[in-house]
Amino acid sequence: MGHRVTDSRVFRQRGAFAYLDDEDRYLSAQTSPDFKFGVIGCGMMGREHMRNTLLVGGASIGGIFDPTPKSIDHALKMLAKLQPSELPKTYGSLEEACADPDTDALIIATPNYTHLEVMRVATKTNKAIFLEKPIATSVTDAIEVCRLAANHRNIVRVGLQYRHKAVYAEAITEVLEQRNIGEVCSVNMLEHRFPFLDKVGQWNKFDEYTGGALVEKCCHYFDLINLFAGGIPEQVFASGSQAVNFKDFTHDNRRADGLDQAHVVINFDNGVIGAFSLCMFVPGSREELIVCGDAGRLHASEQALLGEQNQNRVELWTGENGVSRISTPSYPGYIANAGHHGSTFFEHVAFIEELATGEYRGPSLAEAFWSIAVGAAAQRSITERALVDLSDILPVGFDASSFSS
Ligand SMILES: NC(=O)c1ccc[n+]([C@@H]2O[C@H](COP(=O)([O-])OP(=O)(O)OC[C@H]3O[C@@H](n4cnc5c(N)ncnc54)[C@H](O)[C@@H]3O)[C@@H](O)[C@H]2O)c1
Repeated sequence: MGHRVTDSRVFRQRGAFAYLDDEDRYLSAQTSPDFKFGVIGCGMMGREHMRNTLLVGGASIGGIFDPTPKSIDHALKMLAKLQPSELPKTYGSLEEACADPDTDALIIATPNYTHLEVMRVATKTNKAIFLEKPIATSVTDAIEVCRLAANHRNIVRVGLQYRHKAVYAEAITEVLEQRNIGEVCSVNMLEHRFPFLDKVGQWNKFDEYTGGALVEKCCHYFDLINLFAGGIPEQVFASGSQAVNFKDFTHDNRRADGLDQAHVVINFDNGVIGAFSLCMFVPGSREELIVCGDAGRLHASEQALLGEQNQNRVELWTGENGVSRISTPSYPGYIANAGHHGSTFFEHVAFIEELATGEYRGPSLAEAFWSIAVGAAAQRSITERALVDLSDILPVGFDASSFSS
């Protein structure tokens, strides 16, 4: 990354050096941001994006839009502390937010089921767009989002930031860049965690609004499985159920219907096999990635009991091929604590770098599409109790490469 220690954001954090005159500032000199972002959707993730935008430092928050007054109030209070020199505009409508000539990019962090309709308005501008995952709740809508993105006059990036988690960034380096376990043969992932959190309007308790838990949350893991497998997913078999969570939960007279446990098996066109295990009634969170290659095995994990510090671990076995080792990859605390163990920070670094230089390394729209396609196939497999061929849920003649941006 080539970031010098003298440029560390620690020195530039407000407060500690507030007593200095500007002429005495060198390490703590403030730089003015080059870009302004408009944030659409100011709930949990919208605020995480605001925090990370300001922590990265290349952009300020020029304006915010959310139909829920409490979300706006909460975001304004946070920004009054983090961005005291600039009060963001509050827009009266999505159209107004998108049309603001003062912003360069839009961060869309609204509930899943709104992504397509928000994208239809956002792509009428020529602003860069950052869209939260999953890009849509169904394969059909995801194809439409990809089409909008491909025709957009600026970049469209997606929130599959788990690739930047310290343990997975290490795994990518070991497995895909340094090829330290040889040819990948199988990829296993596991997410065992606490239940879905409360949300504005509790949209995440209903498959209609999320696309199903295997689309909503697990698109992150299917993105990683697809990435390490290095092929196109062809067939999916899954079993799952709503075993424990929200069985007595109703909202607007509707019963929660999201599943909370699942096992998913994936066949890829290159012969690699993938598997995923989900459990959402655990008093903590544990993620695991196991990649087996013909020359070694990598096991990456992160875990925390509820309320406890996260622990990271990567174990590499290379036998007679080289050095086997165990490491505990990490980011500085102020980055890790900014959200999703630091991965959101590095997703913003990538977004700002692309705005500034045009160079980008990260998930494409096509990859975001496949992360949903596997989830949607798994949801269907559970409903139909049958193996699902991806070709059965894709339109005839579908060509994923035409969706990459
Ligand atoms: N990348 C990640 O790791 C990650 C983590 C959590 C959530 N997410 C995604 O972020 C998105 C938002 O989730 P959240 O957890 O912040 O939910 P949330 O319920 O906390 O916040 C959503 C906000 O969007 C607002 N909203 C609803 N419809 C809107 C519209 N049409 N225009 C503008 N604002 C609207 C709501 O009023 C609410 O304030 C979802 O797509 C979710 O899947 C991603």
